[in-house]
Amino acid sequence: MVKISASILACDLGNLEREIKKVEHMVDFIHIDVMDGHFVPNITFGVPILSAVRRITDIPIDVHLMITNPEDFVDIFIEEGADIISVHFETTFHLHRLIHRIKDKGVKAFVALNPHTPPEMLSEVVTDIDGVLIMSVNPGFSGQRFIARSIEKIRKVHSMSKDMGVDLEIMVDGGVNEQNAEILVKNGATILVMGYGIFKSENPEWIRNLLMDQKGISDSH
Ligand code: DX5
Ligand code: ZN
Repeated sequence: MVKISASILACDLGNLEREIKKVEHMVDFIHIDVMDGHFVPNITFGVPILSAVRRITDIPIDVHLMITNPEDFVDIFIEEGADIISVHFETTFHLHRLIHRIKDKGVKAFVALNPHTPPEMLSEVVTDIDGVLIMSVNPGFSGQRFIARSIEKIRKVHSMSKDMGVDLEIMVDGGVNEQNAEILVKNGATILVMGYGIFKSENPEWIRNLLMDQKGISDSH
């Protein structure tokens, strides 16, 4: 069954609590986009927002670190309540060490891939990680258009995980909406991140229909 992660970057931040409560019944995670203005051309949230979201809801929180030197910050995000931490492949020299530091603290470690980064770069850590976050837009902003080639990347990560005999979560982030959600799931996505697709949708209840209609990917893929 596919899971949904609501990206608060697209919500009305002046009413953060109300916005989270509005979607709570249909999502599995709250997605927090941490941007530093160095790795990506935008600055967004830090630890205080994570702490605030933690107080608002009991839903697991998925923290997407789009920052240089992520090793300097993972501990504090873990202490403040992150349940999943995604670090970008492109931001660290010691990915293996960082993955294990996150996991040793009981938190799920995901590796995020920019659109230009081939999934094969993860071949040596596939058995160490809990999931892969496939960026289907260039990271930095909500509301961008889905990059179609990402579907092929989802398929590749899915078959990589099958070949290695591991059960990887495949999270897709960027431009996910009512039109493309189903095809992403059919190709192996297990977690869909949504900003605009949920907070700016006229009828976010479409997600409920998606959840009812699909039964996840079959192993024949
Ligand atoms: C982009 C962020 C995404 C973004 C998703 O850098 O990582 O999480 O907020 O927003 P939508 O779904 O609107 O593309
Ligand atoms: Zn994100």
